[in-house]
Amino acid sequence: MTDMDTAYRFLRADDWQAWRAMETDQRRRVPPPPMALPCPDGATRVALVPPDALTVGSVSLIDVLRRRRSRRAYAEAPLSLEELSFLLWATQGLHAERAMEGSLRTVPSGGARHPFETYLAVQRVTGVAPGIYRYLPREHQLCLLRSQDDLADAVTAACGGQGFCGQAAVTFFWTAIPARTAWRYAIVAPKIIAQDSGHLCQNLYLAAEAIGAGTCAIGAYDQRLADALVGADGRNEFVIYAAPVGKIV
Ligand SMILES: Cc1cc2nc3c(=O)[nH]c(=O)nc-3n(C[C@H](O)[C@H](O)[C@H](O)COP(=O)(O)O)c2cc1C
Repeated sequence: MTDMDTAYRFLRADDWQAWRAMETDQRRRVPPPPMALPCPDGATRVALVPPDALTVGSVSLIDVLRRRRSRRAYAEAPLSLEELSFLLWATQGLHAERAMEGSLRTVPSGGARHPFETYLAVQRVTGVAPGIYRYLPREHQLCLLRSQDDLADAVTAACGGQGFCGQAAVTFFWTAIPARTAWRYAIVAPKIIAQDSGHLCQNLYLAAEAIGAGTCAIGAYDQRLADALVGADGRNEFVIYAAPVGKIV
């Protein structure tokens, strides 16, 4: 095998054959890992606008698709709490939860495993104090992990020094918890997680355009600094993708 074969092996479909014969945790009837991380006891929570009450985002899909671009310049204007609620629901919003069969959300996920957590570096959202938050999909709330005023430099550094990220009203950092997908897919999990992550970011692109905001996928983030910013251990949970969002100038 060449180095290139090794590097791309996880993206190929070669392992499905072996997976069919494997004793996975699911086949051993091991309970699946929790579908979401808990909010620490006593942490401040922010209630979001419920999906049924959203009034933003009703632009037609065809208009959104006509406009979609990667946006790297953001206005000073804040996002409203309703706009942020819409972006979170569009990217990880829960439709239904099933005991052993995962959850159904606004994005698809291999085996309904949904291996991601959503962290936000909030800089300018009306009514939300600046800081690092995690989205709670069950409760449709934010959990405040850390208050922090001077986030611009930390966000820029976590985004690999890409300065426009620090100018965003809010920056999404998505982590992966591989155990959720590995419970069902074992050796095929890395391929599924990589495929899943694209759906998150594409929904964010479309939802952002629908509210006059913009985003830019960030693949070239700094792994160590991004993990540290959101408090991920870098092994059981690690940042897989980031995306700054702001109103379009
Ligand atoms: C997986 C992925 C990673 C990306 N990483 C970065 C990045 O780190 N920095 C950046 O400025 N743009 C990044 N982009 C945005 C691309 O450069 C952009 O999509 C491309 O230039 C096409 O422009 P468009 O999105 O406006 O069509 C990324 C896009 C994708 C899909």
